[in-house]
Amino acid sequence: MISQVRAIEPGADGTPALESGDVLWLRDQRFELGSREQPLLSSAVLASGKNVSYDPASGAVGGSALRGGAAESLRGMLARYSDEAEALAGRLLPAYRGRVRRGRTSFRPVEVAGRASSWRQDDTRLHIDSFPASPVRGERILRVFTNVNPAGRARSWRIGEAFEDVGRRFAPRLRMPAPGSALMLRAFGVTKSRRAPYDAMMLQLHDLMKADTSYQAEAPQTAFDFPPQSTWIAFTDQVSHAAMAGQYQLEQTFLLPVDAMRSPEQSPLRVLERLKRRPLT
Ligand code: SIN
Ligand code: FE
Repeated sequence: MISQVRAIEPGADGTPALESGDVLWLRDQRFELGSREQPLLSSAVLASGKNVSYDPASGAVGGSALRGGAAESLRGMLARYSDEAEALAGRLLPAYRGRVRRGRTSFRPVEVAGRASSWRQDDTRLHIDSFPASPVRGERILRVFTNVNPAGRARSWRIGEAFEDVGRRFAPRLRMPAPGSALMLRAFGVTKSRRAPYDAMMLQLHDLMKADTSYQAEAPQTAFDFPPQSTWIAFTDQVSHAAMAGQYQLEQTFLLPVDAMRSPEQSPLRVLERLKRRPLT
């Protein structure tokens, strides 16, 4: 089974489709830039890396090369996007109100196609999201994306097979972390909090998928172009995805406890626990 892109109307309840592993696509959910913000559509806003990040809790912007008024415009745009993404998630996913926590906001101003990177960093390979430094201990990674390309360019994704299938294929190769390793990673500052066995296995899964070139070519998958000024939402810890081309995207990350789901048994945590026959948090 392949994950689907499902067009959804703004008034609908997207929860069941989202939890079953679909990408919810709002074809007319725009994010308008003000005249002061138009110059932010340039890869020159980046100091290094592939995205500018924003922490809505502190207001801090990371990875930007801008100073003064331009830096303030960037911060303002990210703050507004973050607020709009939260409002949208609240409307579309009413079951999660009061349970979903806002994480980082990002702006990706670099063309994806042809960007050099190591295989592990290469998001043009199918993968599920897992954060090396920020363990989630089973919590869901929910992301809202908006293509803000001003020149009509789509954001081109590939979407792969359902998590259950990914899990079944790779589970025999997933290993429990060595005893004490989570404490060591925490003590040396590699992780910001303690990694659960779940986090260790999701990182292994991310790497196994990306490193397997025949899997990349042969796994069930479909291509989808998200047009400019459209928005999509997915549990990216669950949906196998790859970004193949496109420039200028905003993204907001949320975290959701598994017990806030309507069907927690569809979470990667519960799927992997069933496959490995053991608790992973
Ligand atoms: C990703 O989450 O793998 C990348 C998504 C994108 O940049 O379109
Ligand atoms: Fe990803």
